[in-house]
Amino acid sequence: MIAEQRSQGSKVQSPFELVEAIQRMKREKNVVFLAHYYQTPEIQELADFVGDSLALAQAADRSKADIILFAGVHFMAETAKILNPKRTVLLPDLNAGCSLAESAPPEKFRAFLDEHPDHVVVSYINCSAEVKAMSDIICTSSNAVRVVNSIPPGKPIIFAPDKHLGAYVQRMTGRELLLWDGVCEVHVDISANKLKLLLGKYPEAKLIAHPECPQEILDEADHVGSTSSLLSYVKDDPAQTFIVATEAGILHKMQQAVPHKKLIPAPAHANNTCACSECPYMKMNTLEKVYEALLNGSPEIVLEENVRQRAETALRRMMQLG
Ligand code: 13P
Ligand code: SF4
Repeated sequence: MIAEQRSQGSKVQSPFELVEAIQRMKREKNVVFLAHYYQTPEIQELADFVGDSLALAQAADRSKADIILFAGVHFMAETAKILNPKRTVLLPDLNAGCSLAESAPPEKFRAFLDEHPDHVVVSYINCSAEVKAMSDIICTSSNAVRVVNSIPPGKPIIFAPDKHLGAYVQRMTGRELLLWDGVCEVHVDISANKLKLLLGKYPEAKLIAHPECPQEILDEADHVGSTSSLLSYVKDDPAQTFIVATEAGILHKMQQAVPHKKLIPAPAHANNTCACSECPYMKMNTLEKVYEALLNGSPEIVLEENVRQRAETALRRMMQLG
């Protein structure tokens, strides 16, 4: 019905109609709908599975669906395609990038690796398929410490592209890492000064932070972890108030999990238009674009097979570690 209206050029549907049409097309086309915690609440509510980067990669790997519809950013949908070459992977907006992935253009990364041929290359999953293909092993924020600890002592290691996650892993493992100079523009926009004021106002609050944050924030944190680790912490810890230093989308699932607890998003710098931290790339996905992607079977992730195979080798090494 909606599809017919669309092809006749009718106006945008109501959110309710969009949700109904998305659910119907998901069933008819045998689609699994995966979403990251930073997506909007309405997208998270519609998804079959919501998770952090590691859990989403594992869910994509387990999938038996014909189509994987990925509400996240480009490198996440690419990861799903790397693991599922025979399935169609749709990303509602192909422009949903990531400042970390963009900080490591493949040709510059190749030149950097050529300068350090003896190093083991560990790349954070927030990078392009080409960079994954040049890496020995991939990690996520959930398993970066484990991945680095799995490398035999004495082997020199390159860690790319997030220098803050890399520095955190360096502190946790005691290993010397050669860091690529990339940052997540969202996590570096969290203001340490405003955070200090907030901690003064709520002395009983626990500060929880994503390891993409700079060290001055992580040093103050009661818990550092991936989005799913932050979610588990607010559920399990007896504290009643938490300041959450990561992208604000995670607050949706957190508040559902602990409706009686107070969750305060960490403040961004003054020049930010919103008080909390929002990833502009993650928020490019909308219900409307999800609907269009299902209707048209595009935009689709397409990868060169030779790149995909090499990227898969590095990803599977990570997945074997868990
Ligand atoms: P995780 O959900 O894996 O912690 O990653 C956070 C992030 O910034 C993804 O882009
Ligand atoms: Fe990339 Fe940061 Fe956005 Fe995550 S939050 S997708 S790391 S820019």
